[in-house]
Amino acid sequence: MNAKAKMAVPESLNEEFYQISADIIQSFNKFRPPLDIFVFKEEVGRIAPYYKVGERLSKEQIEELSGLVKEGLIFVSRADHVVYVKHIAYQLDLVLVDRNLKESEIADIFLEALTMRMEEFLDQPIPVVKQKLWEDLMVLTEYLWGDVYRIKALAKRLHKEHSLAKHSVNCGVLGLTIFIRMKFDAFANKDITRNHFNRLTVGLFIHDLGMTKIPAFIREKPKPLTTDERTKINKHSSLGYEMLSKLDLKYKEIEACVIEHHERVDGKGYPQKKKDKEITQIGRICGAVDSFCSMITKRPYAEAINIEKAAGSISQDAKYDSEVTRHILAWAMTVKS
Ligand SMILES: [Fe+2]
Ligand SMILES: [Fe+2]
Repeated sequence: MNAKAKMAVPESLNEEFYQISADIIQSFNKFRPPLDIFVFKEEVGRIAPYYKVGERLSKEQIEELSGLVKEGLIFVSRADHVVYVKHIAYQLDLVLVDRNLKESEIADIFLEALTMRMEEFLDQPIPVVKQKLWEDLMVLTEYLWGDVYRIKALAKRLHKEHSLAKHSVNCGVLGLTIFIRMKFDAFANKDITRNHFNRLTVGLFIHDLGMTKIPAFIREKPKPLTTDERTKINKHSSLGYEMLSKLDLKYKEIEACVIEHHERVDGKGYPQKKKDKEITQIGRICGAVDSFCSMITKRPYAEAINIEKAAGSISQDAKYDSEVTRHILAWAMTVKS
């Protein structure tokens, strides 16, 4: 936005409209943008319709529009939030350039985008699909790197329904929340490298990728599992670990999340029955967060428990790292379920 436009456009407009940047407008279909567009008329000091969905912009209008955007005079309605969120979700890097989005809107966009990418990846866990997920997760880490407490708005939006993709996103977001709470001093002192942060983020999100090798009828069975089915399910952490090399994901943080998230500090987990500090810290975080996230959504075989109750119960369970569950409990106190 240039200085002239800044003075001319009243701040109050932001309540009802998003001001659109050149990057965003370029990402729309040129002739047929996906939502209504408005222009701020400087002479009358009011906003007026410029384009309506379903119409087609002429070449002249497209040129004119690009000039108006540069002057900061083009807006879309916040009532079109859903369309806008969906649109940006496909080009997530736009959230980093759009200065007009509120923190809550950015959080919605991340949840939408990452859930979609996660679904695609779990549907087809192959390198090209992984790459898209990886790129979007790097947009998330870039966003958080600027201020790690931005994770709070995302953690308020955990999915309430269960699917493997939604569970994965919940674990990624909450795992990061807990990691950030536990390591805040390390972030402040810059003791955490960006690479470490990037990789553990990916690890938390994809911890269950081995589940893609387990038939859906077992994964989604609404009744208690037979011993045989349980044995099959329990292979998912090793199966996931085996998938990492083909996906070019052999990093220790990712390996830890995938192979250790069902290890328990009392040594009664699987697959290696590691105990206490034999399990890496990120593995212990991922394990507790994974169980907690399962408890708070309705699953095929169990009802959802509210956040405070689930946090209370996990914090009293000696199978989990008490430092991790203390942080889950402290976080749970800050959100309403
Ligand atoms: Fe798992
Ligand atoms: Fe899980």
